[in-house]
Amino acid sequence: MASSPWSWSFSFFLMVWMWMMAVRSTVAVAPHFQPRPWALAHATFYGDETASETMGGACGYGNLFNNGYGTDTVALSSTLFNNGYACGTCYQLRCVQSKACYTGFTTVTATNLCPPNWSQDSNAGGWCNPPRTHFDMAKPAFMKIAAWKAGIVPVMYRRVPCVKSDGLKFSFQGNGYWLLVYVMNVGGGGDIGSMWVKGSRTGWISMSHNWGASYQAFATLGGQALSFKLTSYTTKETILAMNVAPSNWNVGMTYKSSVNFH
Ligand SMILES: *[C@@H]1O[C@H](CO)[C@@H](O)[C@H](O)[C@H]1NC(C)=O
Repeated sequence: MASSPWSWSFSFFLMVWMWMMAVRSTVAVAPHFQPRPWALAHATFYGDETASETMGGACGYGNLFNNGYGTDTVALSSTLFNNGYACGTCYQLRCVQSKACYTGFTTVTATNLCPPNWSQDSNAGGWCNPPRTHFDMAKPAFMKIAAWKAGIVPVMYRRVPCVKSDGLKFSFQGNGYWLLVYVMNVGGGGDIGSMWVKGSRTGWISMSHNWGASYQAFATLGGQALSFKLTSYTTKETILAMNVAPSNWNVGMTYKSSVNFH
């Protein structure tokens, strides 16, 4: 069959349209974090009702009241902690299969590591030993799902999006040649997989994972306004937080941005 000019232009139009749809689906649609399926684990608690023992945890969030995490927090066994990449992830927990259970669930944020204790058996006290998936909750959070006297209860858990109404927070440490940044108040998946910093006189500088929720750059960035580029560990979404810190930024300060993951 001979092809007319009309069918050629129609084919061309169709190709352009298909290309535009492909671009749209890869660029414009942000991969928001979706809840994961429910699974079975166990939960204990640490500290007392004041949750003072939960401050200064392995993620590096420092004072959890000042930084917005409060007492709805959890220390993860190393199997879940993933060398700190799980810092900031959020979980729904519901007590099951125990007389100590209350009804309903509570939501907690991972702010600490529950380290293994090899002098205790994994089924008798060494609850956080690998390969156990275990949640060592702040006591006020545990008391929302079970009677604390139970000590340990089976739980159903699932990862859920971290709901944040405001933007990412960046807490600065280090010195003139080494910038160490703790990323806090992360929405969506709650976790950070990679991070870059840009001074007003530099290009994007890749930061390396230090520990917990902190990333570092060995660079001289003093006297420059700083921007950050971050990729979610779970969803791989990348966002830009431009001009987060002014040129007179200092270590010991926390800077807020207007952007966040969802
Ligand atoms: C580990 O378990 C032993 C035996 O119960 C206990 O004495 C010790 O305090 C525990 N270590 C830590 C770091 O909790």
